[in-house]
Order: sequence, then C-alpha cells, then structure tokens
Amino acid sequence: MELKAVIFDLDGVITDTAEYHFIAWKQLAEELGIAIDRAFNEQLKGISRMESLERILIHGGKADAYTPEEKEDMARRKNEHYVSLLERLKPEDTYPGIRELLLEMQREGIPAVIASASKNAPQILHALELTELFSYVVPPDSVKRGKPAPDLFLRGAEEIGVPPKACIGVEDAQAGIEAIKAAGMTAVGIGEEAALTASGADVVLPDTTGLNVAFLRKTLDFKS
Ligand code: BG6
Ligand code: MG
Repeated sequence: MELKAVIFDLDGVITDTAEYHFIAWKQLAEELGIAIDRAFNEQLKGISRMESLERILIHGGKADAYTPEEKEDMARRKNEHYVSLLERLKPEDTYPGIRELLLEMQREGIPAVIASASKNAPQILHALELTELFSYVVPPDSVKRGKPAPDLFLRGAEEIGVPPKACIGVEDAQAGIEAIKAAGMTAVGIGEEAALTASGADVVLPDTTGLNVAFLRKTLDFKS
C-alpha cells in the first residue's frame, strides 16, 4: 500500500501544548476543590473541552453540582488561561523532527492534515509558522463525534480524497489511537509504549525525533 497522506493530532504531537492543557485544567480543578494528576490527565488527552470538564467533575464527585451556565463559564475560564499560555509559543517550540518531516512530505507530494479536537488549532499552527505545510485542518465542529470515534480522521481523509487504508495517523492520546484504528488507518503512537499499544497503536515511538517519510512508509507496508 502506497502512503498517500499523514493525519496528525496536534496537542502533544506537533508541540507540547498537551502540557499547557494540563496546567490550565489543573488550575481550574483546584479552584473547584478537585485534585487531578498526570495519570488522570491521560484520560483528558484528545477529548473536547466540555467533555474534559465533565470528566473532571465526575472525578471530583461533582457531576451534578453545577448548572450548564456555570459549566460554560468554567470552560471559558480554562480556555482563557490556556490561550494566555499559548502567547509564549514560538516556531522553535515545534517538536524535534516535525518541521523536517512536513518539508520532506511536501517534497514527496504527501499531504499533511490536522485532526485535532482543539478549536485553538489554527492559532497554534500560525504561532509555530506551520500553517502552509498542512493541506487541511479538520474543524472539530464539522463532525458529530469526537475521539475515540473515527470521525475527525475520516473527515480529514475524505477532504483530501485519500482512502483511509493509505493514511497514517499520528497520536499521543489513547482516545486518538482508538480513533485512528476505528478509521481503518495505521496508527503511530508518540509517548508511553504500554498504554498506546494497549489502545491499538501499530508502532510507538518515545518522541517525534524518529518520524520521517521512510519510517512511515515502512510502517504502512508492514502493518497494512
Ligand atoms: C485536544 C487536547 O487536542 O483538544 C485536549 O488533547 C483538549 O486536551 C481538546 O481539551 C480541546 O481543545 P480546545 O483548545 O478546543 O479547548
Ligand atoms: Mg494529543
């Protein structure tokens, strides 16, 4: 099978914004008297803003403690804090090897797509000066279901007219790996091997330094 596209998650794959999400959620949770740690945070990765808030409230035993308006306000506050952290983002914050991979893909005529749950994705790509290297950014509101459903990845493949089987998805989140596999794509995980393999990753790398076109082609050949 020929590699026809690579569909990337953003937060925690292109840059370290997964950490900024954690910092902002942790502060909001503390204001609500709820403690969250990094282990719990793994369950928030890849999940939409409101769904993340619901998970935090359930975790703190406060699922029914607030009105929808209060929850909207909490999500808004978390996003304001998160967006203030984004102000420090510079092109040098792009994870190692990512810009080189995107340039190599451009030379080889392999489109790159973003399939992120984040409404802040265009702003992040702009800050990293990567916007031009992506053919398409899937708007999270354009699909019915978030990750672990395959919708964001399928929408990305459909937009550029490539069959899912010829796509590789790259993800740092367990829900994201499940989404890639549910879409019928080959999944490359970035991060902790055991958890991502358990979610169905075809291959897991500890970080982005090993990502290049030859590696991705070999992975697709081997796994498809
Ligand atoms: C995902 C992140 O990419 O986007 C989640 O992994 C985040 O942590 C989600 O909650 C939604 O992001 P945003 O920027 O729209 O709040
Ligand atoms: Mg992610």
